Amino acid sequence: MVNGMPSLLIRNARILTLAGPAGARHGKQLRELGLIPQGEVLVAAGKIAAVGPKVDAPADAEVIDAGGRVLMPGFVDCHTHACWAGERIGEWEEIIGGTPYLQILKRGGGIHATVRAVREATRKQLASALRERLDLMLRSGTTTVEVKSGYGLTVEAELKMLHAILRAAHEWSGTVVPTALLGHAIEGEVEDYTRMVVREMLPAVWHEFPGIAVDAYCEREAWPVEACVRLFERSRKHGLPMRVHTDQFSSLGMIPEALRLHAVSVDHLEAASNADLAALAESHTVGVVLPVSGFETNRRFARARRLVDAGGAVALATNCNPGTAPSHSMPFVLALGVRCCGLTPAEAIVAATVNAALVLGLTDRGTIAAGQRADLILLRHKDERQLAYELGGNPVDLVICNGARVA
Ligand code: NIG
Repeated sequence: MVNGMPSLLIRNARILTLAGPAGARHGKQLRELGLIPQGEVLVAAGKIAAVGPKVDAPADAEVIDAGGRVLMPGFVDCHTHACWAGERIGEWEEIIGGTPYLQILKRGGGIHATVRAVREATRKQLASALRERLDLMLRSGTTTVEVKSGYGLTVEAELKMLHAILRAAHEWSGTVVPTALLGHAIEGEVEDYTRMVVREMLPAVWHEFPGIAVDAYCEREAWPVEACVRLFERSRKHGLPMRVHTDQFSSLGMIPEALRLHAVSVDHLEAASNADLAALAESHTVGVVLPVSGFETNRRFARARRLVDAGGAVALATNCNPGTAPSHSMPFVLALGVRCCGLTPAEAIVAATVNAALVLGLTDRGTIAAGQRADLILLRHKDERQLAYELGGNPVDLVICNGARVA
């Protein structure tokens, strides 16, 4: 017993520790799973107390026999828009029928349709819809999730979203990291709208959420490069980390600017040029790859293989949203990351755990080592490659969050 909580010993497990160098894993480092073929993990007081082929455990520890199944860190889903109201299933039928996503956005649908529904919803309704999605994620092995605002587009509605995200986070066993997606779409004139965001929305948000990461969607029909740069230069003055959706459909020149501004991540990258991928590979910025969106909209995918071969760092995420990624499942993302973006199963696992945690600034998870937070998943499989091999099932038998069994 530690602090009234019994210790937990998981034995006879194939353990992916993901032990490795500090910082995001680049290039060949993404292949290292830190495998202990048959080992034990002791969990006490919410943390990993010991890991190895054999560990010393207190006599009263609860024991789980893994029977040779894979034990690994919980997934970290580092890019989602999981807080929304309303639905867009009619638009989805148009998209699968061939209507381009940006055409729907241009006519006032897409993100704008969800904005209308979010403005109508109360904070409580938003929190409860998010909470249902978080529970689905947890059952599929996600123990930490980033959730963006971005469907408010006014100061009041963006703050409502961020408070709804915190409310849902408070009730959930896993960890939620909110991100202020202040540059998601434009209402009215570009110049007027972006000035309002930089001068009014940004200060209101960082005042209530100090240290929150700021994000924007650099794309035709969304935010131009110059507006993103203005927003990020101002955020940087307040020390806020920067992330950017870029090169989803168009390569507008945002990647070099993001690297110049030391963005934590550049997300999407389906349309990124060879030169931009090469520059990204040389940097400390992580490329966040979101294959569900390409699968859903136009079958175009980020060339993660090229980025990793050039020595870059990659993370994988669901991008869970009502428009381009109606999925909460990290195992499905791994399956697509391997089939469509050229990652190996091992690289996809590193991209979905330790690298994704680092995108969120979290160094206390994503690996199995003494002192780390005990966020663990036990798979149904005895071979971790089956995580990416299997399509559409739930490979997770057990989820442990902060040392407690939660699913
Ligand atoms: O990353 N592209 C911008 N944001 C989301 C889509 C959001 C939506 O369509 O509601 C994306 O794909």
